[in-house]
Amino acid sequence: MSLPGAPFLARVDGALQLEGHDLAELGARFGTPLFVYSRGAMRAALDEYLLALKGRPHLVCYAMKANSSLAVLQTFAQAGAGFDIVSGGELARVLAAGGRADRVVFSGVGKSPAEMRQALQAGVRCFNVESEPELDTLNAQALALGLIAPISLRVNPDVDAGTHPYIATGLKGNKFGIAHDRALAAYRRAATLPGLKVLGIDCHIGSQITQLEPYIDALDRLLDLVEGVEAAGIPIHHVDVGGGLGITYTDETPPRASALVAAVLARMDARGHGHRELLFEPGRSLVGNAGVLLTEVMVLKPGRDDVPETDGAAKSFCIVDAAMNDMVRPAMYEAWMGIEPCRLRAETTRRWDIVGPVCESGDWLGRDRDMALAPGDTLAVLSAGAYGMVMSSNYNTRPRAAEVLLDGPEAHLIREREDVAALFAGERLI
Ligand code: LLP
Repeated sequence: MSLPGAPFLARVDGALQLEGHDLAELGARFGTPLFVYSRGAMRAALDEYLLALKGRPHLVCYAMKANSSLAVLQTFAQAGAGFDIVSGGELARVLAAGGRADRVVFSGVGKSPAEMRQALQAGVRCFNVESEPELDTLNAQALALGLIAPISLRVNPDVDAGTHPYIATGLKGNKFGIAHDRALAAYRRAATLPGLKVLGIDCHIGSQITQLEPYIDALDRLLDLVEGVEAAGIPIHHVDVGGGLGITYTDETPPRASALVAAVLARMDARGHGHRELLFEPGRSLVGNAGVLLTEVMVLKPGRDDVPETDGAAKSFCIVDAAMNDMVRPAMYEAWMGIEPCRLRAETTRRWDIVGPVCESGDWLGRDRDMALAPGDTLAVLSAGAYGMVMSSNYNTRPRAAEVLLDGPEAHLIREREDVAALFAGERLI
């Protein structure tokens, strides 16, 4: 049986497998907490975008903020993806992983002059400029280096992506992009600056989007602008519709990537823009359901059975060795993530809160999960390939987890478990 939204994850004779590998065995072999990713799942997710775009000028720029481990970047670079970056650090990672700068788009509301110079010298394909002042700073940096900065403007289309407020980015009240009604003036100004070359238009309306309509609304707003900007004599080469496609964590039914691409292409064609190069910036939909976080059950604290379920004393806690520092999404967004035992037990189930060892009540991974558990069991937090490792921290002086990338029969350790001494190696006593 494969699990919803994650075709590379399956339960075979009671054992949970990712890309054919037994997850309990991987936990025992590499230790927990452990992120495990399927290379096959990542490639398949990218291929769905690429196949749907075949025959059209396009570039799929993996939004590497979702998972920026070098071997993951290498996987996407080899498979023909570009990258959407938001910092000089991310650019350094792309280059270290063998990615090409001329396939990189640089997004972000606060690029520093040093990051701009780094990206100019590396030769990135496009800067997604998010404000009028950024135009001037970038122009000055480019002129100082004797280079020309290729740009698109990230336009805030003011559409509701229908997602969590922390990850909606295309509404008037968000800090992102240039307001739609000011964009034409900003393009006019950009065209006068000698260190800049206008290349395209860009938007990104949010993340974990589960419907097509917001994309099409945003695209329409973008194309309105393209027509206005070109009428003003400024050619627009590409249209970047951003990322944001959602995945199935529980019962969400987001459109498939192929359906998103088809809908965008159809709209471009219908409005006479089919010749333009199309860029996408997917993150979560390429890696989210390609990974799990393995964790071991350390302590069980069953609640009282003789009080009503609503009584706090009835709560049962399963304390595992992964915590909010390893996977912050539940604590930060109250996100629901699937949790599955790697081996099924025959015993009757109990309703558990799955929590970590960090000293905060906000440190939980899942609430009210019905499972039969015993100390020493390995659990898999599902859909953990996106915004897991990259958002992890050392809170409570906890070393960050190790990572394994599955590639056919091979299980490669792609990141060692962090060493406690390394955590304070840069510190000084006075
Ligand atoms: N492009 C830009 C400019 C972005 O800001 C983002 C995500 C993406 C692309 C990729 O979006 P995706 O395809 O992954 O939805 N930490 C949050 C998600 C934050 C997303 C931020 N921007 C979470 O764990 O849900």
